[in-house]
Amino acid sequence: MDNVLLINASTRGSASIGLRLASELLDCIRQRHAQATVTLRDLAAEPLAPLSAGYATALTRLTPAHDPVFASSEALVGELERCDLLLIATPMHNFTVPAVLKLWIDHVLRINRTFIAGPDGKVGLLVDRPVYVIVSSGGFHRGARARQPDFLSAYLRHVLGTLGLQNVHFVYLEGLAINEQAVLAATTQARLQLAGHPLFGDLVTPA
Ligand SMILES: Cc1cc2nc3c(=O)[nH]c(=O)nc-3n(C[C@H](O)[C@H](O)[C@H](O)COP(=O)(O)O)c2cc1C
Repeated sequence: MDNVLLINASTRGSASIGLRLASELLDCIRQRHAQATVTLRDLAAEPLAPLSAGYATALTRLTPAHDPVFASSEALVGELERCDLLLIATPMHNFTVPAVLKLWIDHVLRINRTFIAGPDGKVGLLVDRPVYVIVSSGGFHRGARARQPDFLSAYLRHVLGTLGLQNVHFVYLEGLAINEQAVLAATTQARLQLAGHPLFGDLVTPA
């Protein structure tokens, strides 16, 4: 394990419950892989450039572009290619991914760079590697308590699969807007789930 990439899409900085859990996962990785380099791509603290006309034109014409957004896209794809492990901490915003994460997707899911469109559909060009997605939400979207649809998980799984990343694990922190007890219940459940994975065996779990 040499390179870990953490993508954060929460706007809440150090108050983010998802980002806090992701930081604990990084601590676990550092315990076993002291040499690992961690790259934090904080999409909220350092917003990506909006898509430009030059970028969109280059994509549709399949010509190389001398466009700053193309350069940014290339840098973000490079980050992805270099990592051995991808962590994504994202809130649910209006039933799906936050706008900042959608913009990141538009930068990295690029035809003839990270996927090709063949006769049977799109095929990812990235080498597969483990991906952990921490999804935090104010309410519930799974099980008996669900009162809203989840358009985030299937969409993000499909995006990652189109990049070539199939080894994807979703971890949910639900009901975070209810009260402190609900936050504790959600984080406890997530910790127990993650501690079952070899990478995160050192995660502190409730007795
Ligand atoms: C613009 C916006 C839209 C939101 N939409 C949803 C939603 O559709 N469903 C939901 O359960 N929570 C929704 N929330 C609540 C956030 O998901 C919740 O505050 C977030 O998960 C907190 O995560 P964090 O502590 O990791 O930042 C929304 C919050 C914001 C700011």
